[in-house]
Amino acid sequence: MQRCLWFMSLPVCILGLAASWPTWLSFSAEEDARQPLGYFLRAVDFSNSSSSADLPEKLAADLEGVTHYRLVPGIFPDGMHFHFDGLATVVKFSFSKGRLTWTARPYESGAEKHFHSCIFGGTGTGPTLGIYPCLTNPVVNLLPIEDQLWLTTDTSKWGRVDPETLETLPDEVEVESTVLNAHPACDPSSKACFVQYNCGSNRQPFTNQACVGQLLPAAQGMRTVEISRVELPSRKLIQHSHSPCVTQSYVVSKIDSFTPRDPLNGNSGVLRFLHQAEDDLWLVMDRKTNKSTILRGSVNFVNNHFWNCYEMDGNIVLDSVAATEDYLDNYFEKNLAAERNWTRLFHPALRCFLPAATGGPVSCEKFFTKDDDAVIFDYPTFNPAFKMNPEYKYFYAIAAKAPTSRWFDELIKVNAQTRSVEHAWSAPGIYLTEADFIPWREGGHRPEDDGMLLSVLYNTTSDQSSLGIFSAATLALLHQQPLSSVIPFHAHGIVCVDSRCYPNP
Ligand SMILES: *[C@@H]1O[C@H](CO)[C@@H](O)[C@H](O)[C@H]1NC(C)=O
Ligand SMILES: *[C@@H]1O[C@H](CO)[C@@H](O)[C@H](O)[C@H]1NC(C)=O
Ligand SMILES: *[C@@H]1O[C@H](CO)[C@@H](O)[C@H](O)[C@H]1NC(C)=O
Ligand SMILES: *[C@@H]1O[C@H](CO)[C@@H](O)[C@H](O)[C@H]1NC(C)=O
Repeated sequence: MQRCLWFMSLPVCILGLAASWPTWLSFSAEEDARQPLGYFLRAVDFSNSSSSADLPEKLAADLEGVTHYRLVPGIFPDGMHFHFDGLATVVKFSFSKGRLTWTARPYESGAEKHFHSCIFGGTGTGPTLGIYPCLTNPVVNLLPIEDQLWLTTDTSKWGRVDPETLETLPDEVEVESTVLNAHPACDPSSKACFVQYNCGSNRQPFTNQACVGQLLPAAQGMRTVEISRVELPSRKLIQHSHSPCVTQSYVVSKIDSFTPRDPLNGNSGVLRFLHQAEDDLWLVMDRKTNKSTILRGSVNFVNNHFWNCYEMDGNIVLDSVAATEDYLDNYFEKNLAAERNWTRLFHPALRCFLPAATGGPVSCEKFFTKDDDAVIFDYPTFNPAFKMNPEYKYFYAIAAKAPTSRWFDELIKVNAQTRSVEHAWSAPGIYLTEADFIPWREGGHRPEDDGMLLSVLYNTTSDQSSLGIFSAATLALLHQQPLSSVIPFHAHGIVCVDSRCYPNP
């Protein structure tokens, strides 16, 4: 069955079933015998998705009032073989009165309610045969804005939930585009959140028009107000930016887009026809004038994530997890089951300098200056009190410990100034998810890394997930709470302290 799906469009499938399996295909039979790691394409167990436990006394006071949300692909209907098409599910962890309570709840989209009557077209799924179009599945990141909690993705089909109960709210985002950004760029001091999107007439996605907008939440729904527009040198298909960045004076977006596949492949969903283009165009908007400029860069890549960008000596410094045109293909079941070829998914991480005042060009170099440090990592996070601060020193990420690692199996603490790995944590058979910094209750004079990180771990030996609490200074594992369901691998989380939430990044 698996083989037939894989080779669906080829007569090879029929041939293979009718006669004996061709020997020249035997390599793929071997790969089929492998399974993806147990936290991929694995649904949350909703029959047992709420639980609580005591916290160790020494941590309870520091964690009091902390709420942690994660957005996970938590439901995999039959026929879904692409991990990040899993249906959006919010997991909430609350720390209160010495106890940790956790609960998971699906976002009630059309796809969640009646998948089998849906025309569902995902990144790597479908389009399925159905009656109703089911386009909403916000499964990538969370955006706290004012007192609202939104579930985001790179399309404009975001969703909103009640931060207390996780109940699905009917609100939508209004934008003159089919795309938005999973990571809007939010300025913590002005509280403004910026997005960047293609904005051709009638929302048609093949256009040379690129816009910057500001998000304005209302009692019902959220508006996107266009504040800047610029023409690209040529038309781009589904121009979108996963992760724009904001500094005191600028908003910066890497102009990424999709390009047709040649030849097509046996995949489903959008990735059958398209893949991401590795490009070198940048948009920079001056926040004083709202005027945008397009700049060229020195390296072609897809920006998977910027993290903490800042201004220094007339440059905007932007660090990027640079992905390849093939990156998204990784999340197909057959590829997750196979050995990881890390260089096929990622380029080395980059440090880019954007001389905004002089109008470019953008120059990028490898982030790690020494080869010994040059690990592949993703899902970078940092202490939010140091956002946009050129003096910031540390970021955290999950990394591949070895070229043979099947997925991210190491937590790293990186010094952003010396550009080297200062600490690492790993344990046999443990795979990680993003490690989120617990924001401080108030400023004060504390060292930047004085705090804790939260990550959901998956133990392949026990086939169990747990919430790991780490020291942000040393990466020591301070506490591990087993959870009553496996939590599928997922992209992002956010942390709130005393009801004040911090966006990611
Ligand atoms: C720029 O956009 C902001 C909204 O982010 C708006 O308040 C301001 O008036 C605009 N400035 C100019 C010069 O258009
Ligand atoms: C891994 O991917 C790179 C880049 O696509 C390719 O050059 C290399 O041959 C691949 N390695 C293996 C072992 O398949
Ligand atoms: C993973 O599970 C195994 C088997 O239950 C256990 O021995 C090991 O300590 C666990 N690892 C961690 C880091 O908890
Ligand atoms: C729910 O999870 C708890 C904690 O892991 C476990 O002890 C219990 O047996 C589970 N209950 C069901 C119905 O699976």
